[in-house]
Amino acid sequence: MAEHDMVDVIRAKRDGGRLSDSQIDWVIDAYTREQVAEEQMSALLMAIFIRGMADDEIARWTDAMIRSGERMRLEFDRPTTDKHSTGGVGDKVTLPLAPLVAACGAIVPQLSGRGLGHTGGTLDKLESIPGWKASLTAAEYRQQLEDVGAVVCAAGDTLAPADKKLYALRDVTGTVDCIPLIASSIMSKKIAEGADALTLDVKFGSGAFMREYADAEQLARTMVALGTAHGVRTASVLTSMENPLGRSAGNALEVAESVEVLAGGGPADVVELTLVLAREMLASVGISRDPAEVLASGKAMDKWSEMIAAQGGDPSAALPVARERHDVLAERDGVLAGLDALSVGVAAWRLGAGRARKEDPVSAVAGVTWHAGVGDAVRRGQPLLTLHTDDPARFERALEALDGAVRLADPGTDVTQQPLVRDIIRP
Ligand code: URA
Repeated sequence: MAEHDMVDVIRAKRDGGRLSDSQIDWVIDAYTREQVAEEQMSALLMAIFIRGMADDEIARWTDAMIRSGERMRLEFDRPTTDKHSTGGVGDKVTLPLAPLVAACGAIVPQLSGRGLGHTGGTLDKLESIPGWKASLTAAEYRQQLEDVGAVVCAAGDTLAPADKKLYALRDVTGTVDCIPLIASSIMSKKIAEGADALTLDVKFGSGAFMREYADAEQLARTMVALGTAHGVRTASVLTSMENPLGRSAGNALEVAESVEVLAGGGPADVVELTLVLAREMLASVGISRDPAEVLASGKAMDKWSEMIAAQGGDPSAALPVARERHDVLAERDGVLAGLDALSVGVAAWRLGAGRARKEDPVSAVAGVTWHAGVGDAVRRGQPLLTLHTDDPARFERALEALDGAVRLADPGTDVTQQPLVRDIIRP
């Protein structure tokens, strides 16, 4: 591989140029091997943040990140299809979705991460189930895919290792919310995972990385193009994260809500999104079963129990609950016009549900539940939100985060809900 001078690479991007393929291959490889100083990579990331990247440049950068590790091969007698969400508040959809799609006949390999900041991580949620373990060996992973058809587990160190280092550096240099860097980060891991097809849930609004719809759409199109170019059938569903999803944010709280969905109940928005994503995942691999029917039949719940038990969890064990609760009451009669997703996410995080640094522990029981959805009438004095934690000293800062989060309209106002799914982008 040709050698380059890192200062030349930084200058080229600083001045708005396109990095050459050879420069990109060298930067990613040298940085992964710890041959590029953190301060130099920080400067390059900031230059990319400000100057952006051309489409073919993003493609090469993603390619180099995939090649920093192993690209897995998944060969089974059934098609493999995965889903990834760009992250939102109360977004527990992977939990009912993975067993549902497996119960419809596909294989769902989901190598997942932990939460950072105000959006929860799927592994953190599942770890609130007594006995469940996130780490599997490569052999256990393949065996569970073969036997059960669905796995949600921690990604090993060989999957796009460049991303682990780059993501940690972006987190401390203010360079996370940058379309080329988000797209390459997500797609390098997902392409390396080896599934035949991928459905992306790209969120926009207050609780999402992308506040603006136009930015989310650009991210969605960029990722569909990257997946397609690598032979992975990729589609992006654009969904609103203005209000949090479902009725709970927090690890065990979200598992409980997911089990309600699998049991045929649960909040309508979680059910809707689960079914939209399931239809997309199944269509992408040519399976025509109706996921609504499979959900109603109880087969997805059976699959969930198998999936949890295969990773040491007890699906029938009681989930842990918080020792302390605090209700937030409605100050007047009215109609719930909005509940700010970011505020709820930050409150759940401050109660202990999330981490500020990747080594921090998370609380299984902490979080927020809300008792009305947008458009519902509420009465003065009625509990609107409940805060859950083992550590009551955390209530004050969580309540500060919720200041102004609830928007009440006058009684009788017709509050029209924005559609949850705004668009679906296919190749
Ligand atoms: N999720 C990722 O994996 N990477 C990003 O950059 C943002 C969200």
